[in-house]
Amino acid sequence: MKAAKDRMKDRTPAVALAILVFILGIFLAEVCALADEAEQVIKITAKRYEYSPNTITVKKGIPVALEFTSLDRLHGFSCPGLAIRTDVVPGKVTTLRFVPQKAGTFPFHCDNFCGSGHEGMTGTIIVTE
Ligand code: CUA
Repeated sequence: MKAAKDRMKDRTPAVALAILVFILGIFLAEVCALADEAEQVIKITAKRYEYSPNTITVKKGIPVALEFTSLDRLHGFSCPGLAIRTDVVPGKVTTLRFVPQKAGTFPFHCDNFCGSGHEGMTGTIIVTE
């Protein structure tokens, strides 16, 4: 009888550890799910003289991460209506984070001179309620 009790005692740390790992797993899954919901990630490529996509729809109040890649040379990204801008440098991903605070339609454009079609390198961000 005593021997059986001792064996039970020996297992207690292992059982406690298993429960702890299980709870931690659930907690981490929850955190990851929240992180997914919390940010809208949008990949945008820039090249002479266009962005793809050139219409971007996001939700008001939900954080946005724009991930820019240039396929040729230095471009820019400027959206005055949302007060955001960045250089778009070839050979790396440039991430621009912001939280849209108002709904509406906001034009953006390339603000680094990139050639004869530079003036037409434009797009639109639509922020929905
Ligand atoms: Cu692209 Cu100017």
